[in-house]
Order: sequence, then C-alpha cells, then structure tokens
Amino acid sequence: MPPVKVKDDIYWIGALDPQPTVFDVIMPLDHGTTYNAYLIRGSERVAVVETVKNVPEMQEQFLSNLRALVDPAQVDYIILNHLEPDHSGALESLLDLAPRCRIVVSRNGEHFLKNLLNRDVQPMKVTDGDGLNLGGRTLRFVAAPFLHWPDTMLTYLVEDQMLFPSDFLGCHFCDERLFDDLVGDFSRHFHYYFNTIMRPFKEHALKALDKIQGWPIDIIAPSHGPILRTFPQRYIEQYRGWSQQPPDGAKKSLIFYASAYGNTRKMAQAVAQGLQESGLLVETFDLGEALPNDLLDRVEAAAALVIGSPTFVGDALKPVWELLASFTTIKVKGKVAAAFGSYGWSGEAVGMLEERMKGLKMKVVGPGVRAILTPTSEDLERCRELGRAVAAAVLT
Ligand code: FEO
Repeated sequence: MPPVKVKDDIYWIGALDPQPTVFDVIMPLDHGTTYNAYLIRGSERVAVVETVKNVPEMQEQFLSNLRALVDPAQVDYIILNHLEPDHSGALESLLDLAPRCRIVVSRNGEHFLKNLLNRDVQPMKVTDGDGLNLGGRTLRFVAAPFLHWPDTMLTYLVEDQMLFPSDFLGCHFCDERLFDDLVGDFSRHFHYYFNTIMRPFKEHALKALDKIQGWPIDIIAPSHGPILRTFPQRYIEQYRGWSQQPPDGAKKSLIFYASAYGNTRKMAQAVAQGLQESGLLVETFDLGEALPNDLLDRVEAAAALVIGSPTFVGDALKPVWELLASFTTIKVKGKVAAAFGSYGWSGEAVGMLEERMKGLKMKVVGPGVRAILTPTSEDLERCRELGRAVAAAVLT
C-alpha cells in the first residue's frame, strides 16, 4: 500500500500484514495487523518514527513508501519508541540508505539497540522533557517504561498535537482504510490487545497517562492498527478505566477445580467451608463448565486462589494448566494460594500446581491436601483446615 497522508507533511509509511493468524507465537489474530511507521517533515529536518517487522516483504513496503516521499539519504532522525523487532526490523536497511540518520531512543533503549544491531552505535538518548526541533515542528519525548518493554517511550509532536505511543493504544487490526472513522468497528480488537499486551502493566499505563494528562491530542498514531483521530481522548479514557484497580472491598477468595468423578469437587466444597467459616467471601468455579467473561478481572481482584485437580497420568488436568497459563497476563504476585486434589495411585498434581503457583510468586499455603479416590471425613476436614489456613494468611 502506498504512503497515506495523515496531515500536511506527515505520512503513514508502514506495512500491512493481513495474513498472520498468530502474533509473537502466543496471540491468536483474526484480522491481521499493521506495522505503522511515519514520516514527519519539518522545515529543516526529516524524521521517521518506527520502522516495520524484520521480514523482507514488510521492509520492502516500508522502504518503498519512504522512497516515494523523500530520498532516504535525507532522513535526519529515526525515532524508535520501542526496539522490539516488529518495529525496528528495517533499521539496518534504513541506516544503509541514510548514513547521516541519527537514531533516537529512550535511555533504556540503548541496551536493546546495541544487542539488536550487534555493533557499537551512539544513539541520541532522550527522556521526559527532552525535545527535538525539526524546524517549525517539535518532538517531545515521554518515558513510558514497561508499556510493554522497559525501553518504551511515547513521542508527541507538539504543534500538530499528535501522539506516537508505540504499542500503547494500538491493536492488531489490518484495514487499508487505516483511520478509525473509516475501518469499521475494531473495538473488540482494541480491548483484546490491551488485555493481552498491556494488562500486566496497568500501573505503568496509569503513570504514562498521568504524564500526558491535559495535553491536547488531535491524533493518536500507534504502531499497530488504526490511526485514532475521532475523539482520541476516548481511547485514552478506555485505557485509564481498564487500568484502574478495583476498589478494596471485602476479601474474596476463588476456588477453581476440575473433577472427573466428583471427588475433587467434594474437596472443593470442604475448602469453601473453611474459607467461609473464617470470614472470606468465596466463589467456586468448575473448570469443566463455562467460565464468566470477566474471569481475569475476578482473579485480579481476589485475595486468594485455591486450585484443585485430580492426577491423570502423573499430571494435573489440561483445563487447570490453561487457567494457570492465563494468569501470566494479570498480576497474581503476592496472592495467597493453595492446591488440593483426589488421585488414584500417584497424586503428583497437587505438588505440581503448588510449584507453578510459587513460580508465579504467589504465597502458597501448604502442603496441599491430597485424597485417594473418595475423600474420607478426615480428608474433608483437612480440606476445611486448608481453607482456614488460606483465610488466616489473607487476614493477617
Ligand atoms: Fe509491537 Fe512490542 O512490539
């Protein structure tokens, strides 16, 4: 796709990638993505913001768009808000064509830049308050670490009131019409991107939003997905809302279990009794049934998570591992945790779950309760006691 004018002397020069069905190996996509890069012409200097992914067809789209607007040798600055190779992948090619081009990165970016290029380079390192004059156009930089890499920064074009926020406020959605008012409804993709990429970094999102609070913003030009020019503040407010923590209320615990023959279910019920007796609110979820859409919100708000699984061929059941895998996108560090489960002859699942939860830096109360086949009244009392111990760890 050829360059697209965003404003006078500001162009989209990125690449469309409508085909991928998965991003970064872990993120299923159903509407492709874009790698957005931008050209900004001042009266004295030319800057490029971001490049594209490190695959030949993307690089060729980017360089072709650049050449259509300017002799690459005339590019003065390449602003890399974030060094991940989906945005820095054409840097080498650009530098070959633009020997005088100065690389601009955040202070945290230099380390990534040197390891990306595997050679010594001397970038211009910028941080909060630093600016760059292109002649009638001024770039201002905002350090925004962990959105979603340590190097991330936002770039603001003062006179045009344009924000280039890297992955922040982006989404995987490919449509050559490019602007939010032309591409149709992409709200599901926008929220999915936040949940998958930015959600673990909510505190950092709020810090970055505070830094740009009150700045006039006419256009948000992220590094993936549509350019946001229709009431752009509403996208910022969505991010703020999604990033705010739920208010402190009564301490709540969640129990998740899988159960083939009802034995682990009986243990879950006994754990719930112990938790309730001790004053914690409890919600119990059978992983064999449909789970609520806001499950991760509930997990994030809970003070304690107790997980039960039978042992099958020396392992916990797949739905239990899938639940634990979903915890990597939210903050569970420091939550109280415990495990339980019925088994036939070996019973490894409980210990494996405890190790995984320790790996997530949760406070594991243990040892967990294991019961052979049908739990006895003594087994169920041990489950109630586990519930009481979890509650004590939460309430002290
Ligand atoms: Fe789109 Fe973190 O790179």
